Amino acid sequence: MMKKTLFAALVACAIGGSGVVSAEDVLISTRNTSLLLRAVEGEPLKIAYYGTLINEAEVAQVWQSGMAFNRPAYPAFNTWPLDEAAIEVEHADGSISLELAVVSVTREATDNGEVVRVLSRDKAYPFEVTNCYRSYTNSDVIEVWSEISHNEKKGDVKLAQFASAYMPVHGDQVWLSHLHGCWANEANLFEEPLTAGMKVIKNRDGVRNGMSDMPEVMLSLDGKPDELSGRVIGAALCYSGNYELRIDTDIDGKYLHHFLAGIDETASQYYLKAGETFVTPEVAFTYSEEGKSGVSRNFHNWARRDGKLHNGTALRDVLLNSWEGVYFDIDTERIVKLIQGAAELGGELFVMDDGWFASEKYRRMKDDAALGDWTVDRQKLPDGIQPLIDEAKKNGLKFGIWIEPEMGNWKSSELYDKHPDWFLQYPGREPILGRGGTQMVLDLANPEVQDFVFSVVDNLMTDYPEISYMKWDANASLANYGSPYLPKNRQSHIYIEYHKGLRNVVERIRAKYPDLVLQACASGGARAGYGTLPYFDEFWGSDDTDALQRIYMQWGLSMFYPAAAMASHVSTVPNHQTGRVVPLKFRFDVAMQGRLGIEMRPSDFTPEELAFAKQAVTDYKRLRELIQQGDLYRLRSPYEGKGDVASLMYVSPDKQKAVFYGYKLKHFAGHTVPPFRMAGLDPNKNYRLHELNVADDGMKSMEGAVISGHLLMTNGIKLVLGTEYSSRVFELTAVE
Ligand code: DGJ
Repeated sequence: MMKKTLFAALVACAIGGSGVVSAEDVLISTRNTSLLLRAVEGEPLKIAYYGTLINEAEVAQVWQSGMAFNRPAYPAFNTWPLDEAAIEVEHADGSISLELAVVSVTREATDNGEVVRVLSRDKAYPFEVTNCYRSYTNSDVIEVWSEISHNEKKGDVKLAQFASAYMPVHGDQVWLSHLHGCWANEANLFEEPLTAGMKVIKNRDGVRNGMSDMPEVMLSLDGKPDELSGRVIGAALCYSGNYELRIDTDIDGKYLHHFLAGIDETASQYYLKAGETFVTPEVAFTYSEEGKSGVSRNFHNWARRDGKLHNGTALRDVLLNSWEGVYFDIDTERIVKLIQGAAELGGELFVMDDGWFASEKYRRMKDDAALGDWTVDRQKLPDGIQPLIDEAKKNGLKFGIWIEPEMGNWKSSELYDKHPDWFLQYPGREPILGRGGTQMVLDLANPEVQDFVFSVVDNLMTDYPEISYMKWDANASLANYGSPYLPKNRQSHIYIEYHKGLRNVVERIRAKYPDLVLQACASGGARAGYGTLPYFDEFWGSDDTDALQRIYMQWGLSMFYPAAAMASHVSTVPNHQTGRVVPLKFRFDVAMQGRLGIEMRPSDFTPEELAFAKQAVTDYKRLRELIQQGDLYRLRSPYEGKGDVASLMYVSPDKQKAVFYGYKLKHFAGHTVPPFRMAGLDPNKNYRLHELNVADDGMKSMEGAVISGHLLMTNGIKLVLGTEYSSRVFELTAVE
């Protein structure tokens, strides 16, 4: 073991620069936040502080104030103070003891921050953990993850618990905000005070980890969460597979919340070979004193500018998707009509959804056959896909296509006939069947299956290099927990190997097709998440396109994901999921919060509606940079108060432009709509209001008004929102 002095010298030399406060205190800072560790050689790594930016002089003061957490940064099972563990292992000789002690600290600058790595070793076994911290200076995000390895001679080490990160949080009034939902009702916001005991947020779908709970939370430190003020910590687990977030609240004399996040360990014990490194997914932490919207803005900036959303700063096209227009009833004539309609509306991209493929034996007439057989159905499209791409091009549109490459139809696809062993299954048992009563998940642990999934994209791109967009769907759970590929005694690796396999595939796709736009879809919004988005340009938020319900879901999604990533489509009425009839204006006003699309037959529009829709698309294109790249301020929550109004706005970083949205969700006679106060503007600037999507209901009262940012943010505006599902959208431009 190194001598303390030598260790100190090594740390100091490795640390260098402004982060050195003592050889043992490791201060990691972004523009507005700091995280403080204490790394003493031979002792467990400690976490002391996470919150507002502190300077070097304040490091000692954190300790003096009595507020330092002084807790293990990565608590091992059965080590003092015996709280929830981040790691529990069984060594090759059967012992489950573990005492991690710091060996070294390294720091390395990156383009947008730095990476700090703290290596700890077990005192008794050749077993190591490196706790890693990557800071992003401008977006105020610090990612935390762990790398686990060993060199034990007697065999594999079993990892029973392997969290990515642990974070203590102080306070007796901490509130949790998190998202929960189900198919067609994803990402609803739930908020509750943290009380004594354990709160667990988890997903065990195996494939689609946004189904039910979602792997992100906010913790408001000053009581009931507010959108625009108060100290809030955000945490997002960057993983596409099963996960567990635990918050253990300990009120025994301290009010300390222990937050742990990582891969869910259920049926996932991992047998680690000597010399192999198990790398956990990252947890992205951020902190803001500007309330929940402040945390959202940090995540949005990190996604767009720090590589967590593929091509995050590129502007997204307005598209028309065929699904709700024709469902599986694809034929050349219908598709050509949709393409021409999309062009007339001012769209830029046409996407042909499910239903275009078949094999000799099986056809995709509904969801129970041909999945996995990625050749064109010549009965539906006798001349194939190329004439459709040409038609799109002739109309000035790009072309996109739907795929679902991780799955196949059991006994009703050629894929199954040829490769039954590519399907995950329990040997000797009847399979649990998914969508259409036949759908099952492929065994992505198998490299041959990975090659197949890659080839679905690669073959299409080779045959039709002009395809510019793919909607990548995933509509079944990992229900048959048996991998024909993995050895019998390593079946507990299935959930993890599935997602490693998926990641290998998408990394290969990205290396070869960096510009192909990919949409992550999973029975709607179940793949919105930062495990997926580094490889995907956007996600489909929900199969529910009802504008009213979308207000709630998009509010939830906006907590963590930027508008650039959130596909939001105008569909027909009565809505196919809820039967609700809402005005076209309301549908556009809601869809224009995100990446605008259309998901209906344009031929269903009346001439007046068509004119309205064309103008809305034109305005959206003019404003899309502001919407997709602007700073989000959520103003009035549909989840709060009487739940009768909602509003939000996007502001350009230079505060020259903004777009404001106000919605009425419920209407009662004699009911007053409260004033809407804006946020994020420059109080010293005057803004001209221009109303968008004006419907013929005499609402133009505020057109051209010039109002100061100061007044807009303190006194607000009074909107005429006469009936249920009425809405107003204003473009604000700073004037001299
Ligand atoms: C589920 C998706 O969420 C829908 O948008 C659509 O693509 C269908 N799958 C197609 O089968």
